[in-house]
Amino acid sequence: MSLSMLDNRPIGIFDSGMGGISVLGEAIRQMPNEKFIYYGDSANAPYGEKTTAQIIDLSDRVCEKLIAYDVKAIVIACNTATSAAAEYLREKFAQIPILGMEPALKPAVQEHPHGTIVVMATEVTLREKKFAALMQRTAAQAKVIKLPCPSLVRMVERSVVTSPEAELEITNCFQGIDTDSVNAVVLGCTHFVFLRKAIRTLFGGSLQIYDGNAGTINNLKMTLEQKGMLTHSENEGGVTLLNSKNDAYNLQMQQLLDLYEQVVI
Ligand code: DGL
Repeated sequence: MSLSMLDNRPIGIFDSGMGGISVLGEAIRQMPNEKFIYYGDSANAPYGEKTTAQIIDLSDRVCEKLIAYDVKAIVIACNTATSAAAEYLREKFAQIPILGMEPALKPAVQEHPHGTIVVMATEVTLREKKFAALMQRTAAQAKVIKLPCPSLVRMVERSVVTSPEAELEITNCFQGIDTDSVNAVVLGCTHFVFLRKAIRTLFGGSLQIYDGNAGTINNLKMTLEQKGMLTHSENEGGVTLLNSKNDAYNLQMQQLLDLYEQVVI
């Protein structure tokens, strides 16, 4: 790659709050030379209980803030904001690539074509047409159980991801579901990725758990590579954490980021 093809601007990543920190963790792992600016909109979390119009408006404001930092791409590290606002954002900020997320139903169905698959996501993600289209494209023969878990979003917003409180909340969310008959769980909300290990511990080793983080970051990498927008491979990467709520949240985001490898991988 010629030097003129390199792009040293930062990459913007945002979520309604803490969940997207799990996507940031994966991004740092896969792209250690890049600079990232993460914006958590914790003052307005959860997005998953808002109207589509509200989510578009909030996502628009966050993207304006990231654009002011001269980001070269934006990752919507939120399934909810992707479902509600990705189209709008891609049209409005057409000058840079905008990558979104969707529940990793496709790989779950590929590996369990006739299985029972639980998709944990927000009400918004599960009701939007994007998810209906995904179901139609991928889930022909599988039994898909949609499981909205708003209490888990609020819990992860408080950085509770490993305690007995977390285990109790997860157990409550699965009440009414015969977990022995479940073959796979799809974490269709980036907040829930922080609960990956806790869910596995609760439901035993045979349960397969899927999330969209690695796929999204692969996509980001490929897109920037194709456009000649990756940074120099010898550059030192870095992270700037921003939050709409208050400075205490910045510390909380850093602590979650430090926990990433321990609770997710
Ligand atoms: N983390 C978000 C997602 O991936 C949503 C959480 C929320 O704000 O409700 O859907």
